[in-house]
Amino acid sequence: MKLDPRREQLLKRTFIDFHQMSEFVRNPLIIDRAEGLYYWDIEGKRYFDAIGGIFVASLGHGHPRVMEAMRKQMERMTFAPPLHGISDVTLDFIEKLGSITPGNLNYVKPFSGGSESTEAAMKFVRQYFKQTGHPHKYKFISRYYGYHGGTAGAMAASGTGSRKSKFEPHMAGFLKVFPPTYYRDRFSSWEECNRFTAQSIEDIIIHEDPETVAGVMVEPIGNTGGIITPTDEYFQIIRDICTKYNVALIFDEVITGFGKTGNMFAAQTFGVTPDIICCGKGMSSGAMPIGAMIAREDMAEAFWGEPEKNIQFAHGHTFAGNPLAAAVGIAVIDEIVENGLDKKAAVNGEYLANKLECLKKYGVVREVRGKGILRGVELTDAAIGTALKRTSLKNGIILRVDPTWFAVSPALIATQADLDEMCALIEKSLVEAIEESRKA
Ligand SMILES: Cc1ncc(COP(=O)(O)O)c(C=O)c1O
Repeated sequence: MKLDPRREQLLKRTFIDFHQMSEFVRNPLIIDRAEGLYYWDIEGKRYFDAIGGIFVASLGHGHPRVMEAMRKQMERMTFAPPLHGISDVTLDFIEKLGSITPGNLNYVKPFSGGSESTEAAMKFVRQYFKQTGHPHKYKFISRYYGYHGGTAGAMAASGTGSRKSKFEPHMAGFLKVFPPTYYRDRFSSWEECNRFTAQSIEDIIIHEDPETVAGVMVEPIGNTGGIITPTDEYFQIIRDICTKYNVALIFDEVITGFGKTGNMFAAQTFGVTPDIICCGKGMSSGAMPIGAMIAREDMAEAFWGEPEKNIQFAHGHTFAGNPLAAAVGIAVIDEIVENGLDKKAAVNGEYLANKLECLKKYGVVREVRGKGILRGVELTDAAIGTALKRTSLKNGIILRVDPTWFAVSPALIATQADLDEMCALIEKSLVEAIEESRKA
């Protein structure tokens, strides 16, 4: 895309997330509109949205049911003051969310994004332990390569050095373990590697003193680091460890929630019930900023008492629980549930994985990972990934490229024919990226 002087100047007045702007302006993407599985840029060029915006457009862009719910709610009310009350539609949303979660995860605090949700979960857990006789439990264990958001606490829990070191020092009390992918070559089997890395959490809890450890926060499938997909047993081990030491298990499902892995939540896909789920992104299909922290209902009892006790959850955001977002959230859940789109993601996910496996014939793919329609392809060479960023945009497809891996997460509504189209564009872009990197 050729930039006109005005837009070039305007791009100097802002930042695109995690981009060096001098590089972005060389290969810019300025989007004009979106519909279904596609974006169009300001020159009218069409792009296949292979990553749902950024794991967001679960039903595609501008889904009619979502638009209709928005329109209706807009005419009724677009804001309710969270300091004085709650909108009725937000109560409906809380009920709806509680109907799709595993176990008794029915306590819902709605938010406007993923970082608000993870940040709130950590505050909730710290306050919970203070009010249940464990005032010294404050530490959180999370993983290197993890990403839990851009706010101070969420960043402290995140494990990508390059995104964090510029802002040091971080908050105290955040400890890290490695995900299984980090050690995989040191073990004779993937299962054994998963057992070892899950077990390392217990080692840390014991050595830190269990009475100081409040929570373990993990993404069931880690995006940063390349769609890291542990075994079911990995999460069962972590679940048991958390129960044994009275440590809250927090699943950050900001990416994995809302059908992508073959169930509403990855917790259900892996067969493990955490104490808290944090979500965002796909729950509004991108129509409104949204998020939620969903906790075990009995944990919320620690916050219920007579006014003089002053033990309410001391937390809030002005736009959290927004009625428009709530109406959108209900429409998205209804659409997924009524059409079994999560189950469809499981079937189409296998189809997609097989197609991505075929890319191994080019000799530059080490592994294909993921569940459902959330898939990652690990490359053998970062130079190919770097070239793929360019060739994919040139060929009209938007991927998440890192550059030693790339991820796809098309909308749940994508048919197998759509996946064929997407994979053909990926293949073309990969072949060109291999050629480009060989020339360099
Ligand atoms: C796993 C995970 N958690 C939390 C966040 C933060 O969400 P948000 O960007 O909506 O604040 C993200 C964002 O990419 C994420 O991928």
